[in-house]
Amino acid sequence: MDANVNCPGCGEPILPGRRYCEHCGVDLAVAALLAEQQALLPARIPQGIPISPELLVPRIGDYLIERGLLKPSQLQRALALQEQRARAGKPLLLGQVLLELNLITRETLDEVITAQILQLQNAITEANQLLKQRVEERTRELRQALERLSELNQLKSNFIANISHELRTPLTHIKGYLDLLAEGALGSLNADQQSALTVLKKAENRLERLVEDLIQFSLASHGGLGLNLSKTDTTRLVQTAVDRSRNKARQQGILLEANLPDSLPPIYADEDKIGWVLMQLLDNAIKFTPKGGQVSVRAGLIQKDLINFIVSDTGIGIPDERLSEVFEPFHQLDSSASRRYQGTGLGLAMVKQIIEAHGAQIQVKSIVGAGSNFEFSLPVRCNGKLVI
Ligand SMILES: Nc1ncnc2c1ncn2[C@@H]1O[C@H](COP(=O)(O)OP(=O)(O)OP(=O)(O)O)[C@@H](O)[C@H]1O
Ligand SMILES: [Mg+2]
Repeated sequence: MDANVNCPGCGEPILPGRRYCEHCGVDLAVAALLAEQQALLPARIPQGIPISPELLVPRIGDYLIERGLLKPSQLQRALALQEQRARAGKPLLLGQVLLELNLITRETLDEVITAQILQLQNAITEANQLLKQRVEERTRELRQALERLSELNQLKSNFIANISHELRTPLTHIKGYLDLLAEGALGSLNADQQSALTVLKKAENRLERLVEDLIQFSLASHGGLGLNLSKTDTTRLVQTAVDRSRNKARQQGILLEANLPDSLPPIYADEDKIGWVLMQLLDNAIKFTPKGGQVSVRAGLIQKDLINFIVSDTGIGIPDERLSEVFEPFHQLDSSASRRYQGTGLGLAMVKQIIEAHGAQIQVKSIVGAGSNFEFSLPVRCNGKLVI
């Protein structure tokens, strides 16, 4: 870029090679593009005519008429001659034709071209300012939308926290009376009443678990996930989770197994929470694996100081493009009203929170129709000391 070219935005000189004007920040590439569009496109450049200043000023004839420097009949004459020359293979610009016909002087032509270029420059400046204004407006709108979104998110969290606490009280009453009924404290029950009570207790249990999950989730979302870290027996942790899931796996016709080496060093973790994580992963693995499938938990030492946990299944799998979605709260891959699987879609969101609170990451690999692998690693504790 030439050193004596001025910015169309502020009129200050532009330094060679710059993309933006140093003085007003106008995007020079956009300005050049606008100039090109405004000047060249309407001008329909006849082939074989060298680029001249006049090429940059469209509708020069109209402009001359507007300023009283040319009569419409004179313009018609000039245009007719221009067409004649073009047909003869010797195209000329309108300015050249006007000069040839002595309808204007060279000075007038130069003056008119300069004035039109200045007008163009002003138009570009205005367009640039408009563009800047639009960008500012859009940025402001986006910022407001973002603020609104965070507000809504906060409202949603508060709502979940409040409603869960409100649900806890009536649930405690329901549970209390169900226990009294079961114990026979309110009179003896016949067989039908007993089986109805069993169904009621199961439903109450599910509701209670859901409310607890919601409370834990909203606590964790507000940074309230406190960890109770201690030296934890790795083998016992895995074995307990597998034993607790055995019944469910049997009912679903699924083979459940734990693959553990003879001995494993203890991990440094919150035993209850990691136990809960393993239970959630097993619960999903069993839930999303059809009858006859297999679910396994593996744990092993990697890199001398980390224990790697893998819960895998031979279930329905998760499509690649939806892998990250499963860790979003309330996201279920089958969210239709007729969905086959129970749950609220909070399990993996909380698993992620707990694993991340331990400074680790949860990874998932999956193949649709073949199965899924959920994996995380936790630090080892040796001789009472944390290794990493
Ligand atoms: N092992 C798996 N195989 C296939 N899909 C899975 C597996 N684990 C999770 N998903 C998908 O991820 C979604 C979210 O899992 P998440 O555990 O968070 O919720 P949920 O099991 O539906 O409900 P909740 O755990 O709250 O009872 C599931 O609904 C399911 O679509
Ligand atoms: Mg789940």
